[in-house]
Amino acid sequence: MKLTVNGQKWVLEGVDPTMPLLWAIRDLLGLKGTKFGCGQALCGACTVHMDGQPVRSCQTSLADVGDSKVTTIEAIAGRVAEAVRSARIKNNVPHSLGPFHPNSFRSSAFATFSSVERGISSTK
Ligand code: FES
Repeated sequence: MKLTVNGQKWVLEGVDPTMPLLWAIRDLLGLKGTKFGCGQALCGACTVHMDGQPVRSCQTSLADVGDSKVTTIEAIAGRVAEAVRSARIKNNVPHSLGPFHPNSFRSSAFATFSSVERGISSTK
């Protein structure tokens, strides 16, 4: 089974294709930024992008991934991640879970990352 995560290609030998993508990312590839929360596609802790679209990796099997390119939170570290963090502080963005709760940050960072991928930028 082949998998492309954050631009890196992996070959996973002897892996059950029904394995949730989340476990492959965390346990086989060692990318621990994608978290387990509810395991029922409710909380978003496990969100990754497949070909630019957010998916809940706890409910996505390896077979579902196919040839799609997977992007995890690790890929959006750096300037984009810092810009999201700074904007949230500057604008005092309220969030019941706090500005640096992993799910809150993940959603904002992925939204910004998606915009950058599509060539969309936000300037005031
Ligand atoms: S772990 Fe909660 S949505 Fe996947």
